[in-house]
Amino acid sequence: MEIIVLPDADAVAATAADIIEARVRRGPAVLGLATGSTPLGTYAELIRRHRERGLSFAQAQAFTLDEYLGLPAEHPESYRSVIRREFTDNVDFAEGAVHSIDGQAEDPEAEAERYDASIAAAGGIDVQILGIGTDGHIGFNEPMSSLASRTRIKTLTEQTRKDNARFFPSPDDVPHHVLTQGLGTIREARHILLIGLGAAKAEAIAAAVEGPLAALCPASALQLHPHTTVLVDTDAASRL
Ligand code: GLP
Repeated sequence: MEIIVLPDADAVAATAADIIEARVRRGPAVLGLATGSTPLGTYAELIRRHRERGLSFAQAQAFTLDEYLGLPAEHPESYRSVIRREFTDNVDFAEGAVHSIDGQAEDPEAEAERYDASIAAAGGIDVQILGIGTDGHIGFNEPMSSLASRTRIKTLTEQTRKDNARFFPSPDDVPHHVLTQGLGTIREARHILLIGLGAAKAEAIAAAVEGPLAALCPASALQLHPHTTVLVDTDAASRL
């Protein structure tokens, strides 16, 4: 793992955007996009570069990381909606180039298999952006997830439902189940950018980077990955 500690969230966003821009300018790129508040600065920076420097995503494809089970695609908090609103609708991805998991699929297990197959058919993910949960989850791979897991259904922990309650009218509205790329799926990305911002993420980042490789901290699975860059601000780095 390569660890880059930067003074603040803006510097983290600029560095993440530099890495993504370099890959996108090199030719058709497959991007893995995370939701949550952490990558929003990076997406804002990429949108700015699209508008001001002509950074084009016309040749790129994107895959979201996870989705709430049972939430309609058009729900404002479905990850399909969030990623379009916060990033992809504001740049020039071609029609059909942004792929999401169908949280309302009749057969979620078949949907999970279809999703893994569609990532493989695109040639795999070149750059995967990840945030981290306070419990060390990546995507929605909660503690004790299999390190080899593929895209599948998971049940959210109460902690994660509490952490994500701010996006819903009431805490009871946070879905209990999700579909998420597995830790095995995520580790197939050629370059992973794990972003941590703020003191609330300091323990999870320390466990991911310096803790034992353990299912208790799903992000520690990235220790097995040959090309992971951890981008953190000084607060998130405070336990390293
Ligand atoms: C959700 C997402 C994760 C994200 C995490 C952290 O649980 N499934 O992909 O990393 O939230 O969210 P935030 O960046 O808002 O702290």
